[in-house]
Order: sequence, then C-alpha cells, then structure tokens
Amino acid sequence: MKLEWYHPEPPFDPRAEGLLPGVGGFPPSDRHLFLAGYTALCHSLPAGGRALEICGGFGKLAAALAKAVPDAEVIGLDLYAASGSEVDAALAECPGLSYVAGDAFDLGGYPEGHFDLVFGQAALHHLAHDIDGLRDAVLRVIKPGGKLVFVFEPLGHNPWIAAIRAWRFARAELGDESNLFAHQFERLGQGFSRCEVQSFNLLGYPMKAASDRFGAVAEVVQTLDHRLMRWFPGLHRMAANCNLVFTK
Ligand SMILES: C[S@@+](CC[C@H](N)C(=O)[O-])C[C@H]1O[C@@H](n2cnc3c(N)ncnc32)[C@H](O)[C@@H]1O
Repeated sequence: MKLEWYHPEPPFDPRAEGLLPGVGGFPPSDRHLFLAGYTALCHSLPAGGRALEICGGFGKLAAALAKAVPDAEVIGLDLYAASGSEVDAALAECPGLSYVAGDAFDLGGYPEGHFDLVFGQAALHHLAHDIDGLRDAVLRVIKPGGKLVFVFEPLGHNPWIAAIRAWRFARAELGDESNLFAHQFERLGQGFSRCEVQSFNLLGYPMKAASDRFGAVAEVVQTLDHRLMRWFPGLHRMAANCNLVFTK
C-alpha cells in the first residue's frame, strides 16, 4: 500500500462548512483541516447512502452529516451511546440518524458491504493498538469502492512536535494524544485499493499559539505549509496532524 501524501487547499465542498458544528470548538489554524476532512465525508456519502461513525463521542458530527446528506442513514457508534437534549433534538430532526453503544472492533452485527462510508474523528489514535483487528472489522462492512475516513489525527514523525505533545501530556494539558505513524497507515490500508494522507500543521503546529490569537496569521501559515510541503514532499510526514481517506 503506497501512501499518497498531500496538503489540501481551498476550495472545499460548500457542504463541509455545514459540518463544522460537528467539532464544537476549534482554533482558526485547524479550519482547513476540518473543511478538507468534511469534504471527504460529503464526497463519500451519496444521497440515500449509509454511513457509520466509530468513536463518535457526543454524536455531533454524525448529526451534522445526517443533516447535510439527503435521505442518508448515519449511525453514531461509541463505547457509550450519545444521549442528552441535543441528541434528542438531532434524532427528531433527522429520521436517518441513530446512535448505538458498541465497540469499533466488533462490527459483526452489520452485514458485509453494508456501508458507503465508515469514519471517525479524533478516533484512530484510540484504536491504533490493534490495527489488524480494526482493519478486519471495518473492511468487511464497507462496500467495494466505499471509503474509510479519519479526521484530525496526530502524526508522530516530527520529534519536535512529538516532544511538545509529550510535554503537554505530562502537564495534563492533553487528554489522549498518542502519536500515529506511516507504517500503521500502510498496515491499516492492506485490503484497500488507495490510501490518501492529508497532512496539516507543519510550521502551523509550533506557531499555533500565534496564529490562533491573530486569525490572519493562520492563513499565512497555511500557505507557507502548503508551499514547503509541495517543494519538499518528504516534509508531509513531519506535519503534526492528518486526515486519512482509504478507498476499498
Ligand atoms: C477523542 S474522543 C472523540 C470523540 C468524537 N469523535 C469527537 O470528535 O469529539 C474518542 C472517543 O472514542 C471512543 N472510543 C474509544 N475506544 C473505542 C472503541 N473501541 N469503540 C468505540 N468507541 C471507542 C471514546 O469513548 C471517545 O468517545
């Protein structure tokens, strides 16, 4: 499985904006990352199609996707089923939306080739201790040509970024931010025909604090990141974050 690395730039799918409530709050420097990831979600789920979100947490992204794609069936799965007044409102608004408690490694209850799209946000790094088990579970339920998409995952190849993350984790500033590596994507990609890695936050990671304070700086940093990664493709894996798009 050869990984295809790139840094997506605007324009993004106009429907992706409508999915931004699916992440709650995020810094301006991560805006392109989410818009690119959500563009992949919108392109992977046809009207009337079926999607499964794994590690869906409070279920906001599943709800936003169900609203964005007409007649789609979207299931939000997490170890703990999403609940609360926002969830009740979303369920009332979207007939195709449902939430279940379940384990991402155990999708045996779904028929083979059932979903156009399986996706997760800030999810893969919670599942990376058993890449083979995850691949076996998701590959079976995705239909041929269907997609597996992960949005907002931490990359660990850059020692400087890994050190900042470890430092912040040690200070209890991060919940769980274990790093992911290319060999894990290659392993997860076995059985898929294509694996795209969208990399973000190269300079943007150390400069996050500045660019988040001054919104305009975020745009400049994005452009710098894009140029650097285009001129020196080896820098893609040195970025801090990525989205992943696997095609079965
Ligand atoms: C960082 S949160 C991300 C939540 C949500 N996707 C978001 O973007 O806000 C990770 C979630 O993964 C869930 N999780 C961890 N291991 C899981 C597993 N094996 N199966 C299903 N969900 C799992 C946790 O319960 C948690 O809600």
